[in-house]
Amino acid sequence: MNIYSRILGTGSYFPEKVLTNMELENLVDTSDEWIRTRTGIVERRIADHESNSILGAKAAEKAIEMAGVDKDSIDGIIVATFTGDTIMPATACRIQNHLGIKNNCFAFDIAAACTGFIYAMSVADSMIKNNLAQRIIVIGSERISVTVDWKDRNTCILFGDGAGAVVLGKSEEPGMRSFHINADGSAHNLLTLEALGSDFLSNRYKTTIEENLIKMKGNEVFKIAVRAMADATARAVESSGLKYEDVDFFIPHQANLRIIEAAARRINLTNDKVIITLDKFGNTSAATIPTALDIAVRDGRINKGNNIVAAAFGGGLTWGSMLFTF
Ligand code: UT7
Repeated sequence: MNIYSRILGTGSYFPEKVLTNMELENLVDTSDEWIRTRTGIVERRIADHESNSILGAKAAEKAIEMAGVDKDSIDGIIVATFTGDTIMPATACRIQNHLGIKNNCFAFDIAAACTGFIYAMSVADSMIKNNLAQRIIVIGSERISVTVDWKDRNTCILFGDGAGAVVLGKSEEPGMRSFHINADGSAHNLLTLEALGSDFLSNRYKTTIEENLIKMKGNEVFKIAVRAMADATARAVESSGLKYEDVDFFIPHQANLRIIEAAARRINLTNDKVIITLDKFGNTSAATIPTALDIAVRDGRINKGNNIVAAAFGGGLTWGSMLFTF
């Protein structure tokens, strides 16, 4: 008998406060038209008073409810994030506390920026296949708004806050079918958040937090992202044992509509098969894929048995993809 891991339930949570492109026009020299045509983003959510771990716990509660499992049957919590509540302890431990899971449950974070959810799913899948766990909650949770320089029009228009989660469980039927994860550390300086890292702290009397918020060489990241996302998407399909025509939906990382369209063209998918959420929520980094999955499951587009390919790209630089049967 083969052992697989399979998604048993999904959940997502966004803070209530909406920040529109029009409102950003009052903060920086930009326009609704520029943001829409260059990125596809119309509005994003901002967590004024909810911590990253609260966002993540709210998404996890919904995923546990959909899975219909007892929370005490969860063996582990893995959180993909670059905006954790604290550098130590892991945000996963705080989420474990919010969920009230007390015993026999490991909890740790994964740092792979926007690709974090795919990295975390590959780790959870391996742990289940190797009998280290039966059920793991995998969460992508971000509170990016507090790490953004609201005077930098190159970055502040892009990001939003939110969290998505899945319960991944042991299964006899195929669920997760292929993973492809990759990184190029020589490009580590193209997308950075240096504030409160140990390099920053060792230098903290000579610099300020304001000078060390998110920075991105957008155009350079864009060029690499277009190719890497398209290649990773094709590779996930080709190594899954399925054919291109078997793919029902594509869930791309939601950074830029032009990058998404290039990746979708590469696997010949029409627009109705691509799940898009960035118009409403912007780039929520590790949360884009699990939130988009949950939204499409709850609105009835994605159903049990559908084959889904997901791909992401982000700081590191990191990129990756996965193909699964829901
Ligand atoms: O999720 C993590 C991975 N991140 C990504 O994948 C992001 C990849 N990059 C992108 O999506 C795009 O590069 C951006 C949306 C960030 C920028 O779009 P672009 O078409 O690459 O613009 P650009 O950076 O080449 O800038 C073009 C012009 C510049 O003006 P000049 O130098 O031509 O006069 C910028 O200063 O647009 C200007 N610009 C803006 N104008 C109005 C940059 N940001 C803005 C803005 N509003 N918000």
